[in-house]
Amino acid sequence: MYEKIQATVAFINEKTNGFQPELGIILGTGLGGLVHEIEAEYVLPYETILNFPVSTVEGHSGKLIFGKLGGKNVVAMQGRFHFYEGYGMSEVVFPVRVMKYLGIKNLFLSNASGGVNPNFEVGDLMLITDHINLFPAHPLNGKNDERFGPRFPDMSEAYDHQLLAQAKATAAKLDIHLQEGVYVGLTGPTFETPAEYKYVRIIGGDTVGMSTVPEVIAARHLNLPCFAISVITDLGVPGKIIEVSHEEVQKVAKVAEKKMTLLMKTMIAEM
Ligand code: HPA
Repeated sequence: MYEKIQATVAFINEKTNGFQPELGIILGTGLGGLVHEIEAEYVLPYETILNFPVSTVEGHSGKLIFGKLGGKNVVAMQGRFHFYEGYGMSEVVFPVRVMKYLGIKNLFLSNASGGVNPNFEVGDLMLITDHINLFPAHPLNGKNDERFGPRFPDMSEAYDHQLLAQAKATAAKLDIHLQEGVYVGLTGPTFETPAEYKYVRIIGGDTVGMSTVPEVIAARHLNLPCFAISVITDLGVPGKIIEVSHEEVQKVAKVAEKKMTLLMKTMIAEM
């Protein structure tokens, strides 16, 4: 795996004339707006990148976008790989490892999720302060390669405290209301039953979704600081549970996307 990643990194470096990103960005469902704020210098469709996993959804080929955002060199994934699509965990986290060796120093992520905290409303932004991993497979399962990181990685600060403090300060300045809490990562692709939402709440979750946790685990293994925002697109709160659909999730995400994009862009400019 290590050699495969180095080969991909060398391949990309050749295509981008050694463009060195300092920040990596992975955006969630309906939350791709930040990508359009990047002054793109190089765009590499996934299917043209050596060893890169290829998108399963036809007509939705993803891209790696290299360029400037808030004056910083960034690399963003337009389209992420979800476990429920059938990718193995090593494929889900492959781009995180590639971005690390391209030189990123921080990783920003976003996702859409179902809120189970009764104080949350649809459209809220939640800073992810911690997570609970309920995926049935683990990205670090198997023989450990010490070149990536230790066999037993520390997870006491999965989400970087300094970046969380910076996000709160920036949001206050921009008058953006933020929730904060624990994201529970489940495999999907079903949304939760009312009993499952209740379970997520009981075990300490504030929100539940189908991404982010594997990427953050791989990033922390690589000692990469992470920052993540969840957009609450529906509620798994007793009395407030209504039918959820992917279309509804996308619709709500599109509305909340503007404040999330502004917050992340401002943070990046101020880093
Ligand atoms: N559950 C899981 N994933 C989600 C949800 C949800 O309610 N909303 C958006 N992504």
